[in-house]
Amino acid sequence: IQATTPDYRGIYHFSPAKHWMNDPNGMVFFDGEYHLFFQHHPFGTTWGPMHWGHAVTRNLIDWEELPVAIEPDEHGTIFSGSAVVDTNNTTGFFPDGPGLVAIFTHHLERPGMPTVQTQSLAYSRDKGRTWNKYEGNPVLKREGWPDFRDPKVFWHEKTRQWIMVLACGQIVSFYRSPDLKNWTFGSDFGDGIGSHDGVWECPDLFELPVDGDPSNSRWVLLVSIGDNGSGKEGSRTQYFTGDFDGETFMPDEASREVRWLDHGRDNYAGVSWSDMPAEDGRRLYVGWMSNWRYANSTPSDGWRGAMTLPRELTLETVCGVETLMQRPAREVEAARVPVLESENVSLSELREALKPLRLDAFELEVQAQAGRSFGFRVREGKRCGTSVGFDADELYIDRSEAGESGFYEHFADRHSASTAAFATSAQKTRPESEASEASGQADAAVAFDTRLRIFVDRSSVEAFEGDGRLAMTDLIFPEPEADRLSVFGDEDGMVFRTVAIRKIQSSAGF
Ligand code: FRU
Repeated sequence: IQATTPDYRGIYHFSPAKHWMNDPNGMVFFDGEYHLFFQHHPFGTTWGPMHWGHAVTRNLIDWEELPVAIEPDEHGTIFSGSAVVDTNNTTGFFPDGPGLVAIFTHHLERPGMPTVQTQSLAYSRDKGRTWNKYEGNPVLKREGWPDFRDPKVFWHEKTRQWIMVLACGQIVSFYRSPDLKNWTFGSDFGDGIGSHDGVWECPDLFELPVDGDPSNSRWVLLVSIGDNGSGKEGSRTQYFTGDFDGETFMPDEASREVRWLDHGRDNYAGVSWSDMPAEDGRRLYVGWMSNWRYANSTPSDGWRGAMTLPRELTLETVCGVETLMQRPAREVEAARVPVLESENVSLSELREALKPLRLDAFELEVQAQAGRSFGFRVREGKRCGTSVGFDADELYIDRSEAGESGFYEHFADRHSASTAAFATSAQKTRPESEASEASGQADAAVAFDTRLRIFVDRSSVEAFEGDGRLAMTDLIFPEPEADRLSVFGDEDGMVFRTVAIRKIQSSAGF
């Protein structure tokens, strides 16, 4: 008898209907649409000759997949890159009004010859539906650098020019251009700083206000680190904060330590959306939910690869350090349907309340008593379950019994991140509404400063601690009908100040 194949395609996470996907590419907002291009092999479910797949959304939840946007040509296959709106027609491609320019890596492999990576352009005059390659491709080469890829381009208003940040082996390089066609080298960054556990890939560079104050901003540099055979972590993304003057990135003192964007195993090659409307002002991001350690061998049913939830990135002072925070984009909230909402409930009461629930795609948000160990088992079935919670000074996801894991020896594992540094600053980081309430005696005695938001879908778990100070993203492959949810903790009497559970649905109905 054939067992039912579980349906792992996310309800509210983007994945291609068919075939392989890796990095998000060319994310740009234009004329009411968020474009998401992606590394795509349209003829197979494993990595192969790369194309740019394409999807659009207006609300960051319901995605429409469009035909393949950019195909390989004589210069090579189409690796990762970015896209911008050329508002001022700096390229000359758009005599009739603004259009989109994609800047990507051409990857050329020929028998008996070294691999060559160069940067090229394609442009679209019809909102990304069709693309023309620029006849002057490639626009940027660098002899002797086999790893020279993943251009992220943006308009730098202060110096009125385009900036490109590129991954070059284990550094990133900055170039500048008036027209996207002619590029001048600026500087390199990365020697002697950051993690060098693998090849540097998919950089991003953007400016963010600190604590929402536009008169005090810093630059954030994201750098993903490719597969590395050595440790168990595999691919992951680090970030630096610093200053950027159009030519050179000067890291802050805090960047001397390696800082990770995500503490799970499945958030890679993420970059941010370009050209968000000024009145919106958000820096929105998605990453690819996989890891080169096992990306090609996860369970697949005609498609493979999914993106994280769109997340908003902010820079906030946490324990005196400017820290990159991430929260799911607020648009996600429109797709939620309340299932359970409760206040001041004890662990034992909550345990009973969860028993009848059957959920596979949902959000769980709790605010709990500080200093307790507790957690939730999500996607629980007869023989599987994934634990997400706090243990002493740690936030963790334990997927050691999450379901299928035989495709990679270290998949069944527990991942954690320390929350110790936050314990002392609980008061400072409490939302204002609570801080004002907290004057009462009772509140002073019990600090409710442990906040956890978990987003669960058919094959993923994303956990956010304390408004996004820590994020943790993990793939899971539960058995069919693993739809129970339970809670556990070190003390039955511990109190959850608030609990909210909401189903999430997308009209795309993946
Ligand atoms: C990152 C990456 C990029 C490259 C692309 C190829 O995952 O290795 O550096 O452009 O994937 O698909």
